[in-house]
Amino acid sequence: MTFQGKTAVVTGAGGGMGLAITQGLLAEGAMVTAIDVKPCPAELLQEGGSFQFLAGDLTDDAFVADAMQRAFDQQGSLDCLVNAAGVLWFDRDVSMVEIDLDVWDKVLEIDLKTIVHTTRHAVPLMKKSQSGAMVHIASTQALRGDDKPQDAYQASKAAILSLSKSLAIQFAGDGIRSNCVVPGPCESPMQARWVGNPDSKKATAGVIPLGRVGQPQDIADAVLFLLSDKASYITGTDLIVDGGLTARP
Ligand SMILES: NC(=O)c1ccc[n+]([C@@H]2O[C@H](COP(=O)([O-])OP(=O)(O)OC[C@H]3O[C@@H](n4cnc5c(N)ncnc54)[C@H](O)[C@@H]3O)[C@@H](O)[C@H]2O)c1
Repeated sequence: MTFQGKTAVVTGAGGGMGLAITQGLLAEGAMVTAIDVKPCPAELLQEGGSFQFLAGDLTDDAFVADAMQRAFDQQGSLDCLVNAAGVLWFDRDVSMVEIDLDVWDKVLEIDLKTIVHTTRHAVPLMKKSQSGAMVHIASTQALRGDDKPQDAYQASKAAILSLSKSLAIQFAGDGIRSNCVVPGPCESPMQARWVGNPDSKKATAGVIPLGRVGQPQDIADAVLFLLSDKASYITGTDLIVDGGLTARP
């Protein structure tokens, strides 16, 4: 899966999955524009390869437009987009019946609308590049209900599954593919609740058929496959990476 000569944008690159995806793409020769609202992670600063880190807020459409153009200008193409930025506010994202409506709006703005920002600026540049591949990170939360609801997160992730298919159909004729990776629980800064609470992580691992929680590398491997030419006939699909969790009765 070589990405030699390819240009990629990865959002959420300061987090667990986005960082692993960025490192994977760099290792395979891509030029990466890595975006996060947080500063550049130290691990990335030590990386070889060609990358630029842009610190900014993806809810700012003008920032996103500029970031996409800067990615394109690296070598006159934009080949890959990974939408991995997101938030899960365990304490505040609750049932839609009880949620603070400002929290509802903010979660949908970050988890869903930022993908509208990135995609609407990426597609014209991918058309100029005469090909493109997008991977959006959804969640198994999109596939089922939860007795501890996180309804704003769940709604955002379900919408991503739907929009990815719409994008796949709209832009197949331009050689642009759109797919989702659908992770189950994965050890990253988003799951900070596991830090110092090994019993909670163990309990989660205990219900996963493969017997462990996911790692960012598990997700990065799936993302790189879907971005690569090995997946050139795959578009509009969702690849569940959850150790078998959703296959359980
Ligand atoms: N960790 C899990 O258990 C899990 C499970 C399923 C899906 N996911 C999804 O995977 C993706 C990656 O999550 P992760 O586990 O790496 O979490 P993470 O918290 O480590 O990374 C998410 C990153 O997104 C960034 N971000 C948030 N809002 C932003 C904004 N407005 N502008 C720019 N950057 C912003 C954060 O700063 C953070 O670095 C997310 O979309 C998440 O919903 C995570």
